Amino acid sequence: MSLFLRTLLILTLPVMLCAAELHAPPWEKPGAVIRLGESLYRENCAVCHDIDKDQKSTRKIGPSLNHLFKKPRLPLSKGRPSRDYVKVRIQYGGQVMPAFMKRINEEQIAALLVYLESK
Ligand code: HEC
Repeated sequence: MSLFLRTLLILTLPVMLCAAELHAPPWEKPGAVIRLGESLYRENCAVCHDIDKDQKSTRKIGPSLNHLFKKPRLPLSKGRPSRDYVKVRIQYGGQVMPAFMKRINEEQIAALLVYLESK
């Protein structure tokens, strides 16, 4: 490759990368995943679950999702929940909790998990 082409490439690469970032879908932008997860949580989960309060101070029908992945167990789980466990729970629901399989797709669940993990 000629020196001219190489220089051109080095100069235009950052511009191309910036453009790619601007056109990236929301979940590929930094910070956007958590925001997407937060809005999904508000729309679908907040009626039944608190996320900023601990279990004792919540008055909602479902358990608090605060520090979800640090809990030793959940009402229906045998042990500390994994990401896969929570994903399946969101998809299939529980005894009272509805299934979200038809309403929330894989990418949205991934964003929701990132948000839940951040709390
Ligand atoms: C209609 C109320 C309701 C909604 C909406 C709801 N949940 Fe639940 N959720 C519950 C109840 C009640 C439980 C307790 C287990 C059961 O009886 O189903 C529960 C349990 C859970 C558990 C623990 C499961 C276990 O193993 O005990 C997780 C995690 C969870 N919900 C996440 C979510 C997420 C994420 C959303 C939003 C996508 C959501 N829930 C929406 C009512 C709800």
